[in-house]
Amino acid sequence: MKIALGSDHAGFSLKENVIEYIEASALTYIDHGVFSEDSADYPDIAASVAQAVQSGESEYGILICGTGIGMAIAANKYQGIRAALCGEAYSAKCAREHNDANILTMGSRVIGSGLVLSIVDVFLNTSFAGGRHNNRLHKISLLENDKMN
Ligand code: RB5
Repeated sequence: MKIALGSDHAGFSLKENVIEYIEASALTYIDHGVFSEDSADYPDIAASVAQAVQSGESEYGILICGTGIGMAIAANKYQGIRAALCGEAYSAKCAREHNDANILTMGSRVIGSGLVLSIVDVFLNTSFAGGRHNNRLHKISLLENDKMN
């Protein structure tokens, strides 16, 4: 499984923690930046990771900024992207089981590295439950295509 990783300056340090976690597992990753704590604009990185997931180059994306909010807003502009902002493991579990989220976003100014890694672990190891959730995701895709208004 290949993961697309990205952060802005605020999330850079936590992204490094996530990279260590991934390198210790059987997963592979592509780092979409940033590569320092120099100020950066989160939409640039969200776009790069969202495109990697949208194209199938990576199965999942992980995006970290100060709050996780800007990354989620930006990534969700892409068709087929379901980016979920999670601050604890239960939300990460439901984001995968119910929402089939394909991008996880987190806030480095909100949570610390221990929690981040437990959220990542749950997110990457939980499957979509399907069933009743399929129709709800279908309705989201109708919204993307402006077919429900
Ligand atoms: C950067 O200061 C901050 O605005 C950004 O990391 C993020 O929190 C935006 O949602």
